[in-house]
Amino acid sequence: MHAARVRNYLAACFFCMQQEQTTNATFSTKLGLIMATAGSAVGLGNIWKFPYIAGENGGGAFLIIYLVCVLLFGLPLLMVEFIIGKHSGKSAYGAFRELTHNNRWQWLSWSCLLTPLIITGFYFVVTGWCLNYLTEAITNTFNNLSATQLTENFENLQNHTLRMFGYSILAVLLTAAVLWFDVNKGIERLSKILMPLLLLMMLLMAGRVLMLPGSNVGMSFFFEADFSKITPDVVLSAMGQCFFSLSIGMGALITYGAYMPKRQNITVTSLQVVILDTLVALLAGIIIFPAVFAFGFDPAEGPELVFVVLPAIFEQMSFSWFSSVLFFTLLGIAAITSTISLMEVVVAFLTEATAHRRYPLNRHKAVLITAALCIVMISVCILSISGSWQWLVIAGHDMFYWFDKVTSCFLMPINALAMTLFVGWILQKKDVKTELETHHNIVHRTYINVFWQLVRFFVPIAILAIFLNGIGIFTI
Ligand code: PFF
Repeated sequence: MHAARVRNYLAACFFCMQQEQTTNATFSTKLGLIMATAGSAVGLGNIWKFPYIAGENGGGAFLIIYLVCVLLFGLPLLMVEFIIGKHSGKSAYGAFRELTHNNRWQWLSWSCLLTPLIITGFYFVVTGWCLNYLTEAITNTFNNLSATQLTENFENLQNHTLRMFGYSILAVLLTAAVLWFDVNKGIERLSKILMPLLLLMMLLMAGRVLMLPGSNVGMSFFFEADFSKITPDVVLSAMGQCFFSLSIGMGALITYGAYMPKRQNITVTSLQVVILDTLVALLAGIIIFPAVFAFGFDPAEGPELVFVVLPAIFEQMSFSWFSSVLFFTLLGIAAITSTISLMEVVVAFLTEATAHRRYPLNRHKAVLITAALCIVMISVCILSISGSWQWLVIAGHDMFYWFDKVTSCFLMPINALAMTLFVGWILQKKDVKTELETHHNIVHRTYINVFWQLVRFFVPIAILAIFLNGIGIFTI
């Protein structure tokens, strides 16, 4: 009798420890997970970065390469990360150890901490620019400024260290306020409201821009492909952009996968997220290029495309106040739903990594530490842009450029490559099959075989080839 009680007690303790080790946060609805993941994916990458990279790399030709990357790598890699997160029930910190019972893949966990932290450096700065432009739009500051004055306005912002700090820190605080709540009360609830709103606003804007005379030239630029513009570097940029846009290769989707309700279908969810994200990137192009051509601007303007060209365009449109407030609100919403997931990776990492240590961090403490780390990264970026720290300029480029380049073209492809090899060669095929199945849906054998071959061979070889080709080590 006594022995049985001891056994029961030990079993209960063991169960509690297991419960404690796996993350207990979950999204409460399927829609919540889809909206939160789409919120992470849809962001400045779609609305600010995609149009200017497409503009610099030939428009339509880039678009085609990008779409191919999304289908061939984006979708399988999104599923790969979800599988790792859902199967382990852990954040990027504990997932690989949980699945292998050793520390051999722990470097990948640390890389999944480093990558989002570096991204926060420049991402919060651009989010800060959006908030600054939103205030300027509300107070009608752009009104009657010439194109040169608008360029000066953007340059002034970049030289105004304090203002950039103020707005970037405001963005960190807004994000931290959402993360302060539990996953389903904060991230989930907010994403379910903001994502449909964002789509609606974008459709409205696209409709407005397409009515401009001359908008068809921009549409041809965006949809007609000139393949002479395609170089290995362009293909690497398209792949990097695909990873960045879908939030792949930095543990965000592992973390969200761990919060996934057990009955959620990974294939369908991933497909929905990919479609939403691509739709928003296309809509952004449809809003920006027709407007750029209708008013005679250069589509290869670079990162300032959205911040210089668009205010000039809004000024010349009827309902200019309304259009510019609408656009910068939309950009702000898209940015904040993404910064939430960037910071959540670090918050989940810290709480899990310290869970059995002497000083465990609860969610609130982890949010504060993550916010402080983000502010350090932002500082490096801002001081380097504004020229206060000249020594932070490497090979003629500031840290803003390097943070973006190193993550999109180096860390994210390497992490993604490692993750696909992990699922293809370390996990068992039957485990992958279990994760792809739900109670109602039995996965077809052909489907699992195709996915398995893609993940084991095609995706890793293709990432490696594009990566080596892009950095010039190997030419195709
Ligand atoms: N996918 C986001 C965008 O397109 O703006 C950027 C991003 C968010 C990357 C979250 C990574 C991440 F974890």
